[in-house]
Amino acid sequence: MRKLVLLSRKGGTGKTTLSVNLAVAGLADGLSVAIADLDIQGSARSWADSRGAETPIVAAANGGSLFPFANAHERAGRELLIMDTPAGDSQASAAAIRLADFAVLVCRPSYFDLAALVPSAHAVRAAGKPGLIVINQAPSRRGGVEAAAIARAVKAARELGFPIASVGLRARVAFQESLWRGQGVMEFEPRGAAAAEIDRLWQDVSHGLWPGRVQQRASGE
Ligand SMILES: Nc1ncnc2c1ncn2[C@@H]1O[C@H](COP(=O)(O)OP(=O)(O)O)[C@@H](O)[C@H]1O
Ligand SMILES: [Mg+2]
Repeated sequence: MRKLVLLSRKGGTGKTTLSVNLAVAGLADGLSVAIADLDIQGSARSWADSRGAETPIVAAANGGSLFPFANAHERAGRELLIMDTPAGDSQASAAAIRLADFAVLVCRPSYFDLAALVPSAHAVRAAGKPGLIVINQAPSRRGGVEAAAIARAVKAARELGFPIASVGLRARVAFQESLWRGQGVMEFEPRGAAAAEIDRLWQDVSHGLWPGRVQQRASGE
């Protein structure tokens, strides 16, 4: 079982949105997926409640219970554990970083988000874990011109010493609408732009989790 952690000390960056969407992408690849919801707000669990499906399994965990939680899922044959962490500097996030094989550092293209990403990036580096940075909720181009905030965010993110995902995620209605139905964007609008972004992000993430693994869907299409 490979273990993925989604991180940023700031709330609202998209940790839960990306956790559930990457879980759905993993399911589409035929993986057995569980999400450990480490946030007492329980957003991932409420998504699972509206989903009303058996997969992915979503359950609450905390810093103390995470290790036995992961152990139980490993023995149950789970192939991917996604750890959705709370904002702030929590014991749960620290435990998740220790356990993780790969980290996704999530930020919006804003100064405050980038500033809040610094300690998360340092914690991942101190633990010796690989990861990447993804810019989420980027504004759309206006008149074909990219917002200056995006270039600034990418430049600042590079200085944190982690690769930047090969795709940035735009602020898109599909990311919000799909949550109401307990779906991922790949299920909500399979041919939509949001689904294409998640597909690319999933390629990056699964490459980080399983270095050298042949991409199943890419070779099957
Ligand atoms: N790419 C996106 N486009 C549009 N809305 C988004 C996007 N990513 C996240 N959101 C919205 O932003 C809000 C915060 O996202 P959430 O995943 O709960 O952040 P976090 O878990 O980091 O606190 C939610 O309402 C979610 O629907
Ligand atoms: Mg969340």
